[in-house]
Amino acid sequence: MSTRIYLNGSITGPEDAKISIFDRGFLYGDSVYEVMRTSGGQLVDLDRHLMRLYESASALALPPPQEDVLRKAIVDTLASAGNEESYVRLVVTRGSGEVGLDTALAELPTTLVIAKPLVLPTASMYSGGVRVRLVNVQRTSAKAMDPSVKSGNYLNNIMALAEAKRAGDYEAIMCDRDGLLAEGSSSNVFFVEGTRLLTPNLSVGLLAGITRQRVLEIAEGLGVAVEQGRFGPERLRDASEAFLTSSIRGVLAITAVDGEPLPTAAPGPMGTRVMQAYAAFLEEEALG
Ligand SMILES: Cc1ncc(COP(=O)(O)O)c(C=O)c1O
Repeated sequence: MSTRIYLNGSITGPEDAKISIFDRGFLYGDSVYEVMRTSGGQLVDLDRHLMRLYESASALALPPPQEDVLRKAIVDTLASAGNEESYVRLVVTRGSGEVGLDTALAELPTTLVIAKPLVLPTASMYSGGVRVRLVNVQRTSAKAMDPSVKSGNYLNNIMALAEAKRAGDYEAIMCDRDGLLAEGSSSNVFFVEGTRLLTPNLSVGLLAGITRQRVLEIAEGLGVAVEQGRFGPERLRDASEAFLTSSIRGVLAITAVDGEPLPTAAPGPMGTRVMQAYAAFLEEEALG
């Protein structure tokens, strides 16, 4: 089990991977990134993650490396790490240059890949669910820092999670400035009303999660009616069951919202079906 780093063309151990203190990723969070996992050693949804990275880079007018360079960097770092299963983080920053906000000051982008052993939530979190909190911290508006862009600027999410953690909860659920449900600090949220699965619409302003999209496809395959919409927080509080999605965690049931248990023991019937189907999807990915 090891952690290996690709940095601008070289693969090293973490202690030898050093970036400039003038790197804009470090100074301003002026970067884009993706986090993915392997299943059976195969990268899960690599194409979708790369596509989103290029969309994020384009939204920030950040010149990304060529796709073949990125693919090779990821594959080589993964092979060098040699883990049974890996967590992989791909980061592209605008690079370093004279200190100042003007993007014209940036010289060459910095490309970084971190491959390390995959650590999943504990078995009891999967079998018993996690507690979430609807926090006061608002999700940034699309006109401020567009949440659909996966940038390294994460203070909004960090502050939201800190608020949930202070209350002893596992994840923060943020609403937009109109009070509509948006997303978790590093996850998307789904909930159940009757036989329907609901999740906030992308138009609210949230990350188009790769796992969110997979779950939408899974639900369609299972014949489950899905509504993507603009919902107030009471809809989550009053749901019969709910779950979070993210690339590392997959599908993780929610057991309580704001300290109030949801009526169905987590994971509920819908969550269980979706978790099983997602596990089957990961097994398919493992076949390559
Ligand atoms: C803000 C935010 N929303 C949602 C997600 C889930 O996205 P994905 O399923 O692509 O991992 C993440 C993942 O890190 C995130 O940071």
